[in-house]
This record gives sequence, structure tokens and C-alpha cells, in this order.
Amino acid sequence: MRHFINLDDLSTNDLKQIIEYAITLKKQYKTGEINNSLKNKTLAMIFDKPSTRTRVSFESGMVQLGGHALFLSAKDIQIGRGESIADSAVVISSMVDCIMLRISSHKDINSFAEYASVPIINALSDESHPCQLLADMMTYQEYNQTIKGKIVAWVGDGNNMCHTYMQATKVFGFALNIATPKGYLPQQSFIDKYADNINLFTDAAHACKNADLIVTDVWASMGQETEQKKRGLAFKDFQVNDKLMAKAKPDAVFMHCLPAHRGKEVSASIIDGGQSLVWDAAENRLHVQKALLLYLLDKL
Ligand code: CP
Ligand code: NVA
Repeated sequence: MRHFINLDDLSTNDLKQIIEYAITLKKQYKTGEINNSLKNKTLAMIFDKPSTRTRVSFESGMVQLGGHALFLSAKDIQIGRGESIADSAVVISSMVDCIMLRISSHKDINSFAEYASVPIINALSDESHPCQLLADMMTYQEYNQTIKGKIVAWVGDGNNMCHTYMQATKVFGFALNIATPKGYLPQQSFIDKYADNINLFTDAAHACKNADLIVTDVWASMGQETEQKKRGLAFKDFQVNDKLMAKAKPDAVFMHCLPAHRGKEVSASIIDGGQSLVWDAAENRLHVQKALLLYLLDKL
């Protein structure tokens, strides 16, 4: 049994296979071809944080594959009243075929996997967001064949998305320039582990020089709302705008996992401009997660 908790839980080959199959599923979906490979299968989706893309893509994806998805708000199930992760994992996994979790603590996702008898998918934790990286890598591949050997610039917070880009450097073979304000670096354990593939900057313009892909994310992640003001000041020179994009290669593209704040981490001219792939990446969450579900349920 395989889980998808960190991007590098799966081999490069398997990740590539998932992306290739996602491209096929996308074509099938667009031509109206029916695929019932997950008939009678159920996915439980446990959320203790908000979501638009993750919820809609997993739920629609299961339906499109002939299966069913259960939305379980953590506050409405007994986990919210203190039932243990272990007991919840044993019970829920005895009734469904796969479980997707968006819960704050990465450690809790690992504990859940330890006690679960079905595959577990990390749908965002305080540490990482591997499903988004699958969609981003699929989207870059559709645009420009391969990300291998390319330069990616991460601008902004050293957060869960940044960590997952760091993990992606090894599995997909690209270099990552990370520009963060002082005090907002990624976790030291990630810096140490991916040292060979990353360069750290405090100047966003230097990090974006010759980049093939520029990526950013919100300045305050879910759960950091009270820090919004402080972060707004710390990140004011880390907006991806025309001036910054001009430092990158002429055919460079822009990604953001969304939701986005125009005029904060990204200018409207960039996110709504010709170099933005954000809408393709958001749509690709659907296709690549369908491929991931098929992979984890041995249907690929
Ligand atoms: N990018 C992403 O995971 O979006 P949601 O928070 O809307 O699911
Ligand atoms: N870093 C953001 C990503 C949202 C998809 C957060 O954790 O809120």
C-alpha cells in the first residue's frame, strides 16, 4: 500500500507516469469519454481548513471516475471533539478505499497513515502541499515539455508550498532560487536536505534572473491571519510584478497555487497576463488527482 504524504514518497518514474496519465484523462474528459475505473470506490475527505480547488477537484474527480467522495469537516466529526487520530484512522479506513486529509499538522497526517488500512493523501499540511506540485509540474510539462534543467524562482514566504518546490527539485531535476524576507526562510531541515538544488536570496530580482518559472503564494497562509499586517510590511518588496518578471527569461511563466491577492503577492498585470499559467494549473488539479487516485488504488 502506498501513501502520498510527501512528493518524494513516490519515485520520479511513478510521478511522471501519473502526470502522463493525467494528460490522457484530461483528453478523455474533454471528449466526454466515460471512465468508471473507480466504480463503487469511496474517498473520505477530511478538512480542518478551508478549500475551493482541493475539495471541488477531489469530489468531482471521484464522481467522474464512477466513485463517490465524502466531505468530512473535522469540526463535524468526532476528531473535532477529541477522538484520537489513531481510532479515527482505523474506523474510517475500514469503510472507505482512500482518505484525503487537509489538516494543519503534518505529524497528524503521518499518524493517520500509521493506523490507516487504505492509502492516505496529504491535501495540504503546515509542511507541504504535494497535490499542488503534481498539478504545477503537469502544467509546466504541457507548456514546455520538461522542467528538467530549468531554473525556478520562488518569491515570498518559505512556507508549505515552498517546501514542496524544494522536494520537487530532486524528483524533477530543476534548480530553485528562493527569495524570502529575513525571518521567513523555509524550515532548516528542508534547507539542509535540498542544499545542492537550492539557492537562497533576500533580493527577489536576483532570484528571478534568467528564471524559466516564477512562483509565489500568499504572504499569510491559512492560520496566520493575525500576522497579516506584520507580514504585509515584511513582504512589500516581494511582489511578482512586471518589473520582476522582466528579470526572467522572455518565455518564462508564472504560477500561484491560489487563492491570490492582487496588489499584494502578485500584480493583476502578471496573474491576469499572458505569462500566467495559474488557471491551467488550477484545472489540472482535477486531472492529476484523478490519475493519483487511480495510481494509489492500483488502477493505473
Ligand atoms: N491551491 C489550493 O489548494 O487551493 P484550495 O485551498 O482552494 O484548495
Ligand atoms: N500556503 C497556503 C497555500 C494555500 C493553498 C496556505 O497554507 O494557506
